[in-house]
Amino acid sequence: MTLTLAATSPAATVCDALLVGIAPAKGKTVDVYAHGLTAAQSRKLAEALASAGATGKAGEVTRIPAQTGIKAKTIVGVGLGEFRTMKGFESFRRSIGNAVRSVAGMKKIAIIATPDIPHLRPLALGAQLAAYSFTAHKGKSKGATPVPSIVLLVPGAATPEQKELISELNVITSSVFLARDLVNTPPNALPPVELAKAAKDAVAGLPVKVTTWDVAALKRDGCGGILGVGQGSTNPPRLVKLEYAPAGATKHLSLVGKGITFDTGGISIKPAAQMDEMKGDMGGAAAVIAAVKAIAELGLKVKVTGWVPTAENMPSGEAMRPGDVITMFDGTTVEVLNTDAEGRLILADALGMAVLEKPTLLIDAATLTGAQGVALGSRISGVMSNDDEARAQVCAAADAAGEEVWPMPLSEDFRPAFDSATADLANIGDRFGGMMGAGVFLQEFIPKGQPWVHIDIARPSFNDKAAYGYTPKGGTGAAVRTFVQVAQELATE
Ligand code: BES
Ligand code: MN
Ligand code: ZN
Repeated sequence: MTLTLAATSPAATVCDALLVGIAPAKGKTVDVYAHGLTAAQSRKLAEALASAGATGKAGEVTRIPAQTGIKAKTIVGVGLGEFRTMKGFESFRRSIGNAVRSVAGMKKIAIIATPDIPHLRPLALGAQLAAYSFTAHKGKSKGATPVPSIVLLVPGAATPEQKELISELNVITSSVFLARDLVNTPPNALPPVELAKAAKDAVAGLPVKVTTWDVAALKRDGCGGILGVGQGSTNPPRLVKLEYAPAGATKHLSLVGKGITFDTGGISIKPAAQMDEMKGDMGGAAAVIAAVKAIAELGLKVKVTGWVPTAENMPSGEAMRPGDVITMFDGTTVEVLNTDAEGRLILADALGMAVLEKPTLLIDAATLTGAQGVALGSRISGVMSNDDEARAQVCAAADAAGEEVWPMPLSEDFRPAFDSATADLANIGDRFGGMMGAGVFLQEFIPKGQPWVHIDIARPSFNDKAAYGYTPKGGTGAAVRTFVQVAQELATE
């Protein structure tokens, strides 16, 4: 998928579909936002769209056949609602996303664009993010790539600001697509060794140093969490470190992502229903890999370290047992009371390593708990922190990037439930407030004074329902845009 800017007049643009923004109007028809059309063309278009049922409300998609004087084969009215007075742009991004998904399969799409940067940004991003499909594993049923090219029609020659915006969004979109691809890849095709390879491939040719820990190196360094979780699988675990350190950077952002390539639950095995979705239990790792790639491609002046602990959680004769005690990288011993609470075990090792570098800000993203979905639903990620300012910073960055999050409390009241009679800690606490409990467990591996933010993306990273707005079914790329936004804010000018 490529997105380009063009200054050709909308009426003269030869394309399969011409997308036109519309909004509710006081009279009978709709308001058409179409620079470059004559007043008569706009009026006729508004009438044709209205008689096809268009009202202009947000998210509505109305397709009408070619109109005289306009070269496009079909015209699509994109309901925007009262977008000029909206506070945020998410509804705008979703509306254009709906329209782009509705023309999937067509070759050339043109959009009559709002030229001002504050509106062009969500319009371009929503359009791009919607033009996604995952067909790598379609065999005989493989079809054409949907929407291979989108042209944004701007009045007059594209400005330098517009061009810069589009090249930035092309980088961000391709990274979000990489994260979606990794999540959607079947678990037999993406065991830990392959995920580690994918991390390396993602940053090939970029100024990013890649270090991979194999089983021997994990043993040498005492990564008992990653080894313990991985020991039940014939596919060995790995840890990958990605380092981007541009000259002139003054801040250091550390990103950690949970990379369970498949979570059966282990000996504490999960029920069969929807277990296939646990191929997405590496959504945090995918977001870290994709974000480091985007940040390096954008050349942001901020040091970024990505940590990807990855393992497959399987039951077997060699698997971890409930009751086993393992020793984490920082020396903490953990009694594994439930082998399905495995994410926190691999994260403990990676967080323990990450904090040794004392980054300015440490953020982890993880598909950590089913309790996230109970608390916040399928689309809102939970944000927890040991530092009010850091939590507010990450929530604000998510808002700016267009990702839905909500702050959740890490009360010390969750901590006693993790007491173990045998070890320093147990890996499960209270059933209630399980998302925060998991956060409190992770906090045990963060030294005082180290700003750290934990994002539970359990359900938002995988859309098991129908596509909506610019979000496809399956992998969504959750946390990628938030990570890049935080890096952009930390970068020195
Ligand atoms: N990967 C799961 C969490 C999850 C559930 C992600 C649903 C996406 C959708 C995690 O490893 C897990 O199994 N957590 C357990 C923890 C419990 C045993 C304390 C859970 O949430 O049930
Ligand atoms: Mn689990
Ligand atoms: Zn898991």
